[in-house]
Amino acid sequence: MAEASQPIGIFDSGIGGLTVAHAIRQRMPNESLLYFGDTAHLPYGDKSEAAIQAYSIKIADVLLRRNCKVIVIACNSASSAAYDLLREYVHGAVEVINVIDPMVELVTRDFANRKVGLIGTKRTIQSGIYARKLEERNSGVTLISLPTPLLVPMIEEGFFDNRISHDIIHSYLNDPRLAPIEALVLGCTHYPLIRKEIDAFFSGRIPILDSSEVVAEALWNYLSSAQLLNPETRGTDHFLVSDFTESFEASTRLFFTEAVHLEKYPLWG
Ligand code: DGL
Repeated sequence: MAEASQPIGIFDSGIGGLTVAHAIRQRMPNESLLYFGDTAHLPYGDKSEAAIQAYSIKIADVLLRRNCKVIVIACNSASSAAYDLLREYVHGAVEVINVIDPMVELVTRDFANRKVGLIGTKRTIQSGIYARKLEERNSGVTLISLPTPLLVPMIEEGFFDNRISHDIIHSYLNDPRLAPIEALVLGCTHYPLIRKEIDAFFSGRIPILDSSEVVAEALWNYLSSAQLLNPETRGTDHFLVSDFTESFEASTRLFFTEAVHLEKYPLWG
């Protein structure tokens, strides 16, 4: 049985999921975080479903061994490839929360029968998971999806708010298929870092939907209903990475708004 004082486990292919970790920290300041960034295997967006499933299971093992009370998949690529499998794997030991369902619920509630754009990695877009889940809910949403694979390496390399990011973002978003959209879903946990630029592209005309806050809210709802919210002051946070570089550590501040210390934790011995 999970207990309220145990940490929240969160994972991503790298440090992009720290945008979700940050939203969780804002929403639930009492909670201890155990973050795992699979930097040795990043990016997930170009990997096969089988590879992402294997990495995700290994990471879930680490999070469970380190006593997490819940697992948050803070990555769209892993949520699309490994969520169902991970749920089966943990077999009810802990709840697993993904970043796609809370967003699909928001879109169904606020944009039913409208045209909505989605940008994400190749893995997420090719999986068709957002369209499938929107259809299952009879949302009537027409989803227009576009893979934008250059955005993750661009952000990881620190290219944003500059001419290069401006040109790449504009060349993707100028796609005529996106012209009729009434909202845009950021289907990748790296993209909040370029949200302002995306907003500027649309001159603020349409809402740009970022999942970090809705995921934090969904997590709060779950912890609250399971009576697992930590009433005490939090313990120490840990940020594990399967491969350590100083540049990853330096970039954490961009995603988490404060610098964090990364601990190396190889996935395979
Ligand atoms: N942050 C991951 C996501 O939300 C993408 C990064 C990657 O491709 O590894 O899909």
